[in-house]
Amino acid sequence: MATMSKAIVFTEYGDPDVLRLLEVPTPEPGPGQVRVRMKAAGVQPADTRSRSGAWQAWMPVRFPARLGNEGAGVIDAVGPGVAGFAVGDEVLGPAAGAYAESVLFQADQIAAKPAIMPWIEAGALSASGQTAHTALEDLGVAAGDTVLIHAAAGGVGHIAVQLARLRGALVVATASPENHEFLRSLGALPVAYGPGLVDRIKEVAPAGVDAALDGAGGEALEVSLEVVGKRDRIGTIADQGGAARLGLRSIGTRRSADRLGELLRLYSEGQLRVAVWKEFPLAQAAAAHRESERGHLRGKIVLTM
Ligand SMILES: NC(=O)c1ccc[n+]([C@@H]2O[C@H](COP(=O)([O-])OP(=O)(O)OC[C@H]3O[C@@H](n4cnc5c(N)ncnc54)[C@H](OP(=O)(O)O)[C@@H]3O)[C@@H](O)[C@H]2O)c1
Repeated sequence: MATMSKAIVFTEYGDPDVLRLLEVPTPEPGPGQVRVRMKAAGVQPADTRSRSGAWQAWMPVRFPARLGNEGAGVIDAVGPGVAGFAVGDEVLGPAAGAYAESVLFQADQIAAKPAIMPWIEAGALSASGQTAHTALEDLGVAAGDTVLIHAAAGGVGHIAVQLARLRGALVVATASPENHEFLRSLGALPVAYGPGLVDRIKEVAPAGVDAALDGAGGEALEVSLEVVGKRDRIGTIADQGGAARLGLRSIGTRRSADRLGELLRLYSEGQLRVAVWKEFPLAQAAAAHRESERGHLRGKIVLTM
């Protein structure tokens, strides 16, 4: 008889209460895969949109559906052809269906968890962190640049702020006032979004803005166009339609073990922080989704197993 373990499953689109903690067969790793006994998984806006049905037109899920895109835990089985990882290794990485006790990871996408890294931070870094890293690469952020980062306090934004500072850029960061002290602690110049944003940006960056990364969409794109001269140095991770309409970059994540390894190197050297806003036990995934949908987090929401 198949071994069973628990996973968050939903069988219809809807509000967070459609999420159920069910017993499912524990998966067996195929070629190139490892099975991980999970300790933590990050929650992302993509998860809540998959669950609600907001994305069903362009990214329908197949029911019964699972959620999650990043996590960390301990390897308890290794598939054929995997080199470099063994049972007992503590790892993190991107993984589909990460809201579960037992999850398959592609071995070529994972990295060893630094011993000093708490599980909740390890579970929350792989997807958001690699999005931030890819975006700054695509925007060519370099020493001497002034970069505008919208939605800077969120899961992607707070990593992007730190990576931009490490590249030597001055960072102007939009957030609600409650998050300004947090952004200052990461080395950014915080400004409140909303009416008058362009003036507030010009006040803190009188010499101008060279590039913009948008994680909010909508008016953030118009504001970015007004303050950044070059369209190819404005990118959004949140508003594909706006990017197409205005001729700006729509940025997707390019994940790799090398990119994750670079983030972990910075973390281990004490140069990069992963902020965890709230943690919830796996069984309370619905509460975690409600908190994510409130839309005003400071760092990441994490599920723990
Ligand atoms: N393309 C990709 O590969 C990719 C990957 C990851 C994420 N994303 C997308 O990128 C966006 C951000 O993701 P995330 O994980 O960082 O989200 P998140 O962790 O939920 O954070 C969202 C942040 O936005 C801030 N915010 C809300 N309204 C805002 C506004 N009008 N202007 C500026 N900031 C505002 C919130 O805080 P305050 O308002 O309190 O400051 C919060 O900190 C989402 O739309 C997500 O789907 C795309």
